[in-house]
Amino acid sequence: MTATESPTAAWWQTLYDRPIGEIFLERPDASRLEREIDCLTELLEVQPGATLFDQCCGTGSQGLALARRGFAVFGVDQAEGYIQQAAAKARDEVLPAVFVAADARDYVPPKMADGGYNWGTSFGNGLDEDDHLRMLSAARQALKPGARYVVEFPNMVCLLRDFQAVLTRRKTLADGTWLVVRESTLDLHAGALLQRWTIFAPDGARREVDTQVRLYLPHELRLQMERAGFIDVRLLAAPSGRPLGSADARCLAVGRVA
Ligand SMILES: C[S@@+](CC[C@H](N)C(=O)[O-])C[C@H]1O[C@@H](n2cnc3c(N)ncnc32)[C@H](O)[C@@H]1O
Repeated sequence: MTATESPTAAWWQTLYDRPIGEIFLERPDASRLEREIDCLTELLEVQPGATLFDQCCGTGSQGLALARRGFAVFGVDQAEGYIQQAAAKARDEVLPAVFVAADARDYVPPKMADGGYNWGTSFGNGLDEDDHLRMLSAARQALKPGARYVVEFPNMVCLLRDFQAVLTRRKTLADGTWLVVRESTLDLHAGALLQRWTIFAPDGARREVDTQVRLYLPHELRLQMERAGFIDVRLLAAPSGRPLGSADARCLAVGRVA
């Protein structure tokens, strides 16, 4: 932990800052984002004009893209910097998107939505399963009867089989070159993927953040969705939307409100 990090802060309150947004949340190309948006709109069975809830929206990549297609979007994320960035883009482009900085474990938008999603391992963070259930329950409360909800998460079967102990990413941004090294281990007792992120800034400063994600197997993700009150939960591959197989790196759990 560095001097600037609070010992009581949850890891997502310290990791999601610069340069994680630029390196991990900005899609490498427009076609990848388009594929994700096509996948979401098909699975949610929504048409332009519908209201969507982007739970843990990050820098707003998907919410902004959906608003450009004519959807009304409510995005929530705890990272204020990301929310300011997303809101500024929505303002500049005059898009029907509202972005709010809040804790997604409790946040329910003021207007019920026709569909919702939680994309990119924003679920299952930390080891407290009650917290995870709270986030799913908040999503359910945010949705109209019959509305669908999508969670996109690592397919832990594939992740464990092809375990990648170290990942490095280097990116040159306006202020210089950043380097991120992510070291992964497993805590089999706790059932968690543990990762240490070491972030090297262009000025030589370095910080470390330790993160934990619950090792939910796909069927456990389905069970959590069902516990939160979703019905007809299906497991699919992301972003193709095809039935999930063990070789698919990312999975989708898609359920609906009764
Ligand atoms: C890997 S990012 C994915 C962002 C976005 N969904 C995307 O696909 O670009 C995970 C996001 O979840 C947010 N997050 C995690 N826990 C949260 C919580 N309890 N409340 C609000 N946001 C949370 C983080 O701040 C981060 O922006």
